[in-house]
Amino acid sequence: MTTSSTLWQPFTLGGVELSHRLALAPLTRSRANPDGTPGELAAEYYGQRASLGLIITEGTQPSEDGQGYLNTPGIYTPEHIEGWRKIADTVHAGGGALFIQLMHVGRMSHPDNTPHHRRPVGRRRSRLIRTCSLQRARRRRRCRVS
Ligand SMILES: Cc1cc2nc3c(=O)[nH]c(=O)nc-3n(C[C@H](O)[C@H](O)[C@H](O)COP(=O)(O)O)c2cc1C
Repeated sequence: MTTSSTLWQPFTLGGVELSHRLALAPLTRSRANPDGTPGELAAEYYGQRASLGLIITEGTQPSEDGQGYLNTPGIYTPEHIEGWRKIADTVHAGGGALFIQLMHVGRMSHPDNTPHHRRPVGRRRSRLIRTCSLQRARRRRRCRVS
């Protein structure tokens, strides 16, 4: 268990040297360009947090079909990779390290939330119960996506 005396001690994680043991949890920001490229805003955002040591980035789709929300970043085109390279350079310059969290949302995706408007790839058209809106919950109706 980490105590306050070890919290500020350096730590090597899978070959990555960290100056202490604090980390930033992944937080979806929805600030990527519409094509999924993380831009200057993302470099500024992550650069501001470089002193946290280890940054786990927001969920990042590894393919078009993995996208679940608008303006989330991807890492499957040369533009995406270049955008992340600039972010990584900024974080490294600030003394931090960065792991990209890969996130494929599977059937939680919806055609309205992606630039390509395709239905998600899934093993079958099984139904999915989604979180109900307050209004529906009050009427005790289940929210379903078919
Ligand atoms: C706005 C917001 C965006 C989030 N985005 C992600 C994400 O992209 N990936 C992920 O694994 N968790 C995500 N989370 C979960 C946070 O990482 C989580 O809330 C954090 O680890 C703290 O854990 P707790 O909510 O259980 O206290 C998100 C949470 C919030 C509030």
